[in-house]
Amino acid sequence: MLIRRPTALPSSEITDSAIYASRRDFIRTLLLGAGTAGFGLSHGADADDRTGQSLGSLINSPFSLHDDKPTPFKSMTSYGNFYEFGPDKESPAKHAHRLRTRPWTVTVDGEVKAAKTFAIEDILNWAPLEERIYRMRCVEGWSAVVPWVGFPFSELLKRVEVTGNAKFVEFWSLADPEQMPYIRLPLLDWPYREALRLDEARHPLSIIAVGMYGEVMPKQNGAPLRLVIPWKYGFKGAKSIVRIRFVEKQPETTWIKSSPDEYGFYSNVNPDVPHKRWSQSHERRLGEFLKRKTLPFNGYAEQVAGLYAGMDLRKNF
Ligand code: MTE
Repeated sequence: MLIRRPTALPSSEITDSAIYASRRDFIRTLLLGAGTAGFGLSHGADADDRTGQSLGSLINSPFSLHDDKPTPFKSMTSYGNFYEFGPDKESPAKHAHRLRTRPWTVTVDGEVKAAKTFAIEDILNWAPLEERIYRMRCVEGWSAVVPWVGFPFSELLKRVEVTGNAKFVEFWSLADPEQMPYIRLPLLDWPYREALRLDEARHPLSIIAVGMYGEVMPKQNGAPLRLVIPWKYGFKGAKSIVRIRFVEKQPETTWIKSSPDEYGFYSNVNPDVPHKRWSQSHERRLGEFLKRKTLPFNGYAEQVAGLYAGMDLRKNF
């Protein structure tokens, strides 16, 4: 994500660092574009390597893609967005080692009969873990194919009773300045929050991911658990979730608060609706040089287009 003008950001110091980061990305893209070296593979001098913690035997999901080769692991861990660890694409890999993923709990509240708090150890036992090879698309124009490990979001709905008022579900990320240095800066409206309509969350493609590439989730990718919604731009996938709240009204999310005219609530991958500052018609896969065409709903139209029947997706972008 690129921050046009960070919310409530009077400090020129912070604005400069955000602009600096996006300029650096731009220059780096140009430099890499001049050669044949892969885009993503060239990053990662500071990247953590594999977590080395296997998640055991995994079920192969019928929802996995098999026609595209997965993005190299290192590209996914060394280039990404996790603003709590800084606005630069390399910042998460540099700073996320500060995140403590145990003990970890997730509180589920709002429009539920009884609020509950679950420990990560219990969550990991909710359902057999599946490998889901998904196509991912970032709003900034890069994409990836990632073997996530997780289970359907609907597993949570077996463990809490939502009230008839629940229409939306919010996901709150951890916001601890001790572990996440950039929380001290008003780069975004913390804690990072995203939301889905309840029927989107219930869709079998929506997963809570606890790992990738067969291993425990790397910290920079949102350990110990995050959301993955493959037909939406990557920013819908909140990382390091500590709270899930069911609500009646469409919530305001972090990116909508930051730039309401650039980041809509639905955020379905839609090549026909350009971002305010760039086209969304093509994407560059991490680790590749040439751009490819972006597909409506990121290639998942057959499965999810029905959720939006009758809606004008240019308006509800
Ligand atoms: N979650 C939190 N808590 N903080 C963030 O800054 N960035 C989002 C999303 N989830 C973000 C977040 C954005 S903009 C993207 S593109 C994806 O995480 C990137 O996930 P990845 O690094 O695993 O590809």
